[in-house]
Amino acid sequence: MSYASGMNRYDRVTAALEPPFAVVDLDAFDANAAELVRRARGKPIRIASKSVRCRSLLERALALPGFAGIMAYTLPEALWLVSQGFRDVLVAYPTVDRSALAVLAADPRAAWEITLLVDSPEHLDLIESTHPTTRIRVCLDIDAGYVALGGRVRAGARRSPVRTPAQAVTLARDIGRRRTLRLVGLMAYEGQIAGVGDNPPGNPLLARAIRVMQARSTRELIRRRGRIVQAVRNLAELEFVNGGGTGSVEKTVRERAVTEVAAGSGLYHPRLFDHYTGFRGTPAALFALPVVRRPGPGVVTVLGGGYHASGPPGPSRLPQPHHPAGLRYDGNEGAGEVQTPLHGPAADRLRIGDRVWFRHAKAGELCEHFDTLHLITGDSLAGQAPTYRGEGKTFL
Ligand SMILES: Cc1ncc(COP(=O)(O)O)c(C=O)c1O
Repeated sequence: MSYASGMNRYDRVTAALEPPFAVVDLDAFDANAAELVRRARGKPIRIASKSVRCRSLLERALALPGFAGIMAYTLPEALWLVSQGFRDVLVAYPTVDRSALAVLAADPRAAWEITLLVDSPEHLDLIESTHPTTRIRVCLDIDAGYVALGGRVRAGARRSPVRTPAQAVTLARDIGRRRTLRLVGLMAYEGQIAGVGDNPPGNPLLARAIRVMQARSTRELIRRRGRIVQAVRNLAELEFVNGGGTGSVEKTVRERAVTEVAAGSGLYHPRLFDHYTGFRGTPAALFALPVVRRPGPGVVTVLGGGYHASGPPGPSRLPQPHHPAGLRYDGNEGAGEVQTPLHGPAADRLRIGDRVWFRHAKAGELCEHFDTLHLITGDSLAGQAPTYRGEGKTFL
């Protein structure tokens, strides 16, 4: 490795590793965790496991004061986590996995620790059809999207059909009538605030539009979520009301009706979370790809790289060349399946065998490309941690 481009700390610490590989900077991870806790102002943070996808890093965050419980993304994942000792696991997306439901229904310990998400009588029927031996804990999902102009404008994820206090009460009553189910929580995720940066670079008009939408949505949600929680609390003893995500922590916790917030991405601080006015994070998860050829002046090609993030397709979903600075994708090739050309003045200072460091656009999805996360503290390698994939667990 020549590093004529300027070796950074990560290059030095990982000099003995063969790229491609991924690292997590534990100092940055811990600083990000502390910042999330500060923003949550005493309300517990349930960790969105999809945004971490590494068991030992979930454990690391859970060991810190301020974090409590897991927000899992599939029931098989939740069952696995509980078998590994995790407790209080909310599966935050509906499940129709009959085999996993049957396992849950027959396992009192798992049924004690796991809560399923429901938003319709069909979900309830499906859970009941597995004839649980103990009561299954369920959480009602509420649509927290923002709707304006009689429904012609909509912001936020298409999730639950339950939007009004009356609809929530109807479903809560239905749950109450079923002997095998117990309503223990409410969840309402305002993705249009938590997952949309209010400070997009180079586009002041868009930034203004986003801020107006988010302010209106916040006001609307304070009223509606409050009314729903009040109405459902008359019918069931709720253990938790969950809302928010990394981008909205300090806003969501202000709502009295909300008892806990969810967050995960903020721990790795991927690229999509760079553009918020309310907080700053430190990139904690990066990956290194080797320069394998130099097609001509001003361009190098690295191995691999096409680790696109989920969501609306477009440049925002691509990994970001991070170090050396000033590299950009080729307009025709983008981030490729097995190789990725990169242009820019820094390319001429890179030699074959050097590395280029990238940040993923999102958080946990990076872990689907690597078995191992190499852990860094200060100027040394502090070990490694298997990702879910590294443990042979590919849930989604
Ligand atoms: C239900 C739910 N809550 C919270 C979050 C926020 O997670 P993160 O903090 O990783 O953005 C998400 C992300 O999609 C989600 O689906």
